[in-house]
Amino acid sequence: MTTHRIALIPGDGIGPQVIAAAWAVLQKAADKAGFKLLGTEFPWSCAFYKETGSMMPADGIETLRGFDAILLGAVGWPAEVPDSVSLHGLLLPIRKAFVQYANIRPHRLLPGVQGPLKAERFDILCIRENTEGEYSGAGGRVHQGTADEVAVETSIFTRTGVERILRFGFEQARARRGKLASVTKSNAQKYSMVFWDEITRHLASEYPEVEVTSYHIDAMAARMVMAPETLDVVVASNLFGDILTDLGAATQGGLGFAASANINPARDAPSMFEPVHGSAPDIAHLGIANPIATIWSGAMMLEHLGEKNAADAIMAAVEQATTSGIGTVPGKDKTEAITAAILAAL
Ligand code: NAD
Ligand code: IPM
Ligand code: MN
Repeated sequence: MTTHRIALIPGDGIGPQVIAAAWAVLQKAADKAGFKLLGTEFPWSCAFYKETGSMMPADGIETLRGFDAILLGAVGWPAEVPDSVSLHGLLLPIRKAFVQYANIRPHRLLPGVQGPLKAERFDILCIRENTEGEYSGAGGRVHQGTADEVAVETSIFTRTGVERILRFGFEQARARRGKLASVTKSNAQKYSMVFWDEITRHLASEYPEVEVTSYHIDAMAARMVMAPETLDVVVASNLFGDILTDLGAATQGGLGFAASANINPARDAPSMFEPVHGSAPDIAHLGIANPIATIWSGAMMLEHLGEKNAADAIMAAVEQATTSGIGTVPGKDKTEAITAAILAAL
């Protein structure tokens, strides 16, 4: 029997709740499809930081390298640990160390979910650059605490990094409806985004079957609200993709529905699957976190591991639950009730 070894990092806030839900659904799907998911849980989180002084052990990355995939809940508890410490100590280093350069985030309305837009039929795949750009972590502060203080945060765009994410976008567009929207801001950012546009145009000649359009980030934000049905694959830099995918989550009914996959396309290190949302401190003690984003991310993980039938079965079960109105309105149903309905449908 095939066994997939999964590293589980529940993390902070609602992270453990949504991971427990997703893991139950994944186990059931694996049982039905006839393969095994072997989970190893790591307690790395802000609580772990408070105990040990670091978000994960010094050999954490090497420990994770031995797994087939990573399933993560959420990282961050800003009341206790600054986000700049917790995220740069766990989530961001994993994405970078394992060259998970493609962050894939699907945005569509599940049946039964009332979105905030007039449009109901849209199906967007956002591809966000995930290892460099505006979130490179390059920078510094001098004259700290004085009136002369300076803070510099440098965006890093490499030819390798830009070319591979745009190529990934072209490939996805070719496999879907053949339309690629490249997100830019070359009217204001005259180095990095002009470079991005040049590479977009250069690659376009290799993919004559893909219709590519460049949109400025501000116009793209409006388009995602006013005309989301005109979009297929959207490819963006780290910061632009981060913002657009919370907007995308809103268009699909809320952050509780937005899934994501941090993919290492070369498959020479594990990929990581996690919801788009964070630890949601405001609802962490209420038991009402929507687990669908994490369950959907889990389905993306199974697909990545070659278990497409099980992934499809999970999505069918999620859709059966939302069609009957369960989990469709934020805050209405308990996490456990939504999970139970999906398990029953499965
Ligand atoms: P957030 O995504 O945690 O929450 C934003 C809003 O969405 C909140 O009102 C929250 O209640 C709601 N929400 C989020 N997930 C939900 C769910 N599953 N069901 C129902 N409602 C949900 O964003 P934030 O408040 O900006 O960040 C909180 C913490 O999480 C911070 O420490 C932040 O840095 C961190 N964060 C981590 C990740 C990650 O680990 N991938 C992602 C985003 C934010
Ligand atoms: C996300 C999150 C992270 C990001 C934060 C928590 C660093 O917002 O996954 O979208 O921006 O990558
Ligand atoms: Mn984000």
